[in-house]
This record gives sequence, structure tokens and C-alpha cells, in this order.
Amino acid sequence: MADSFDVILIGSGPGGYVAAIRAAQLGFSTACVEADKLGGVCNNVGCIPTKAMLESAKYARKVADLAEYGITTGEIKLDLAVAAKRAKKVAEQGARGTAYLFKKNKIEHVQGWGRLAGNGKVVVSGQQGERTLTGKHIILATGSRPRSLPMLKIDNDRVWSSDKAVFPSERPATIGIIGAGAIGMEFADVYDSFGTKVTIIEMLDQVLPLEDADTAAVVDKAYRKRGMEIMTSARLEKADVGKNGVTLSVKTKDGKTKTVEVERALVAVGRAPIVEDIGLEAAGVKVENGFIKVDDHLRTSAQGVYAIGDCARPPLLAHKASHEGIKLVEHLAGKGHGMVDYDNIPNVTYCHPEVASVGLTEKQAREKGLDIEVGSFPFSASGRARTAGETEGLVKIIRDKKYSEVLGAHIVGPSASELIAEVVLGRHLETTVEELESAVHPHPTLSEAIADASLVALGRGIHI
Ligand code: NAI
Repeated sequence: MADSFDVILIGSGPGGYVAAIRAAQLGFSTACVEADKLGGVCNNVGCIPTKAMLESAKYARKVADLAEYGITTGEIKLDLAVAAKRAKKVAEQGARGTAYLFKKNKIEHVQGWGRLAGNGKVVVSGQQGERTLTGKHIILATGSRPRSLPMLKIDNDRVWSSDKAVFPSERPATIGIIGAGAIGMEFADVYDSFGTKVTIIEMLDQVLPLEDADTAAVVDKAYRKRGMEIMTSARLEKADVGKNGVTLSVKTKDGKTKTVEVERALVAVGRAPIVEDIGLEAAGVKVENGFIKVDDHLRTSAQGVYAIGDCARPPLLAHKASHEGIKLVEHLAGKGHGMVDYDNIPNVTYCHPEVASVGLTEKQAREKGLDIEVGSFPFSASGRARTAGETEGLVKIIRDKKYSEVLGAHIVGPSASELIAEVVLGRHLETTVEELESAVHPHPTLSEAIADASLVALGRGIHI
């Protein structure tokens, strides 16, 4: 077995494994060092199994209404542990898929923990002992891990991280979720759908603080209607972890302290880049604000060492990591056509109703002093949404008045995660709002709502 490679990836998440495949396609001899299962957090405990759990959650909610659709079922039994078993199976399929792709592309999977050792060397500690690899180009794709809170340390017993919450062995009666970002809101959906009493505690003044206020408000309202308790502008002050549960003391918006008793707590306050114990110092790789410091071409401060994905820079998103990996290796092969366009990365939260966005929020556009026109179209006015019984939500298009550039698009509602791709492609091709509207959308579809919102932004809405 050769120990010398053109490209060595450390980490096989959506950053590392995708970069490895593209590197191999470009003719680089490639190795990917991975200590755990192939596919990283995204495939094994993150994006993929969470979406499988959310799929179960969707059916759990819908099943009660099926009589209206002409379907009467027998006794309904919801079992979170069975849903978790399915989610695990889906993740395992993904890991096997990555192993297959590695084999197909002749990528060597080096099992073990990789550490930079300087001068193009990576020392891998695995079950078979230590092995030293040499690489012309070394790409760090080590990802991130859940952040804990000083007053509420993750123990994966009473206090869970998403790693634990994704495969529950039983349903807690109550759960307190700290943080209303993507992770908090997705798990709130899953647990509520299976009958857990959910309390969400968010420090900032809206759920999904990165999203446009209008789309976040739709989710906030929908969650409250379902019976979840949401506290915004609320700060966790103290937590007592007992044998049977957790007592959370929360300073609420009005300055009072509220006590919440829960069976389990989920800490969803962000993720921390993995930068420790990977030999950064030995190789002279600098860290800045917790992330590996990279330049516009994803070069670290050490010659021949690069970083992509969650360990390198925000946003912490799988698709951003994969694109960085592809762009980087194409650049290394001299076949690049620019790097990642960070202004056109979509954001999706797969809760119900789903939220998806790209570009500026209305508030950001106004703060920048841009001359804008905003068009909103509610799904209640969409024929297709009515047939699906999914009328909650809206599409909002923000356009720049002068050039009609699509400055931002915000979707909350059915299939938002799929619909946003049209706007991402449009922005990629520098499409105007007029072009978004005049492209013929099939009827009846949810995608028509994008054309309709564009029309509203142009001052000539038809269906509202
Ligand atoms: P996040 O940074 O998106 O949200 C964390 C939330 O916790 C914030 O709203 C913050 O204000 C709040 N918070 C922080 N400290 C708090 C405290 N002491 N008390 C109350 N609230 C507090 O992080 P999250 O949701 O944990 O996700 C981590 C990363 O993973 C994010 O970058 C996210 O984009 C990514 N991710 C993406 C998903 C997707 O694309 N669907 C799904 C899951 C995660």
C-alpha cells in the first residue's frame, strides 16, 4: 500500500468525501482519513437521519386527519423508537453508499484519527497502529460537534445533544429545547409530533433568528397552535440536573424568572468546529474565532494545507462544505472556474412548515439602504397547496427596484426546501424578477407561488 498521495482528506463528511471523489476524478491519487463511519455527521447523525425522523413526524401529524381524505385507519400507535430504527437504517445505507463510491473511484479510506505532522505528513492512529501518510495537498474537513452550555453540560442522559436526540430509544413526556435555530426547531417538530410536550427557549427575539421575520413568524404561530411553548428573548440562567429530570430557570422577556421542569433537555445552541488534536500547531495552521483560518482559496496558514466545511468558516451547512471541496480540488488541478459564491447559499430548516431562504432578509436589505420592492404570496391562494391540505405559509421575493435583481427569497410552507432551488439557480444566472415571473410554471404546482410572489413584487399580482 502506497503511503504517498496527491490529495489527503481528513474527514469524510459531505466536505471530505465529495472533495475526495472530485479529486480522484481529476486524476489525483487520493486518500480519505476517517475515524468513524463514512459520511460524517451529516450522513450518520445529522442531516440524513434527522430528515428521516421528520418524515416520520410528518406522517404522525397527518394520520389523525386522514379520515377527511377518505381514509379511515384503525387504532393509531406512534412509536418514536421504531422511527429511530428506520432513521438509522437510512443512515447506514448512506455510509455504505459512500464506501461504494470510494471503491469505484479508487480512493483509499484510511481508518483512524488523522493528525498533521508538518512537511506534508499526516499520522493516522487506527486500530492497526500508526501509519504515516504523505500528501502534496492536505485538506482538513474535520467538521464540527455540538456546543455545550456552561450551566447545562451535555451528558447524553438527561441533557442531550442532537447526536443523542436523533435516535431516541423512547419518547420523553417533556423536553426543554435550548436554542431555536435549525436543530432546535427540527427536533421540536419531531418530538411534538410524537406527543412530547415541547418547550423552546431562545435567547434572541424570534425563532430561527437568521431567517426573515415574516417566515419565522409563520413557524412560531404554527408551533404555538400545535401546543408547543415558545419563549423568545429568554435566557437560560440556571439548570439543575436531577435523577429524573432537569429544572430550567429562564429569565423571560419581562424580566421574570420562570422555572420549567422537563424530563430531558436538548442543547441546540450551535456547533463548534473541530480544531483540537488534529496537529494544527505542529503544522503551523492558525485558528481564528474558533475556525481554521483560510483565505479566499481555502488555503490555511501552512503551505499545502487547506480547510473546507464546518471547521473552516460559516455557514455550517453540508452543501456549502461539498461545494468548497469541489471548487478547491478543481482549483488545485488547474481546472477551476472560481470559488464558492457565499452570497448564494440557500438555508433550509426542515421543520413543518418548512423554511427555506437565499440572499438578504427584508431587514438586511433595508439596513443596507437598498431601494426595494417586496412581494409576498400566501400558499392559501395556491390551488396546489389547497389540494395538498398545506396552506400555511408564503413565498416572499425581495427585488431591487432599479435592476430588478432578486435580492432575497424566503419561503415557508410545503416543499419550501425544494422550491428554493429555482431561485438559487435564478440568482446564479443573474435572473431578474421579471424573468422569474415570465418563465412558464406548470399548473397546478407549488412552484407557481414563486411566479406569483414575483408578480406581487412587480406590483401586478394576479391571484391575490
Ligand atoms: P444555530 O446557531 O443555528 O442556533 C442556535 C440558537 O441558540 C440561536 O438561535 C441562539 O440565539 C440560541 N442560543 C444560544 N445560546 C443560548 C442560550 N444560552 N439560551 C437560549 N438560546 C440560546 O445552531 P443549531 O441550531 O444548534 O445548529 C448548528 C449548526 O448546524 C448551524 O450552523 C445550522 O445551520 C446547522 N444545521 C443546519 C441544518 C439545516 O440546514 N437544516 C440542520 C441542523 C443544523
